Amino acid sequence: MKKAVYAGTFDPITLGHLDVIERSAKIFDLIYIGVAARVKKNTLLDVNNRYDLVVESVKHLNNVHVTIFNGLLVDFVRECQASVIVRGLRVLSDFEYEFEMASANKKLYPDVETMFLPTSLEYSFLSSSLVKEVACLGGDISIWVPLCVSKTLENIYKKTGNNG
Ligand code: COA
Repeated sequence: MKKAVYAGTFDPITLGHLDVIERSAKIFDLIYIGVAARVKKNTLLDVNNRYDLVVESVKHLNNVHVTIFNGLLVDFVRECQASVIVRGLRVLSDFEYEFEMASANKKLYPDVETMFLPTSLEYSFLSSSLVKEVACLGGDISIWVPLCVSKTLENIYKKTGNNG
């Protein structure tokens, strides 16, 4: 059985992430999505919220499992008994960072391979930060995120009364 891992902060998950997940789920028998608990950036959503939104967004895919992970990505890959890390490449500028990560992960776990999928063109500019900024300023994010995410962000920014 060919298993792969797709990991991220998912603060929040977007349709760009979902596009990579859906396409990977057609290539591999099983995809483990790792929601990183400990990240360097400040997150809007706590890890349980980020996890819940990913679970809700992938519930139509029966070969996708979602897990929260702490620590190194390669340790999570080992735990899943997977051999491939899937990464989405949005724009050329992603490449340097991705190459660095793939090389470091390979050093840490020589049996792992990183596979890059080009993000579909309509999501090539998308990021979780962009989605949060637009939502915070009252813009419509429903074309970029699953419904559960737009509702969650709407509620957060309504509650905090944040209009930028
Ligand atoms: N569509 C839309 N947005 C996308 C995307 C896609 N296909 N792919 C990435 N993005 C966005 C993300 O939402 C994120 O946006 P943000 O910076 O506004 O939050 C940005 O692009 C960067 O994504 P990514 O590089 O995947 O970072 P991440 O923070 O989501 O995840 C981890 C990074 C968790 C995978 C990485 O830090 C990690 O492996 N951590 C574990 C610790 C470890 O092993 N470190 C050593 C690694 S060598």
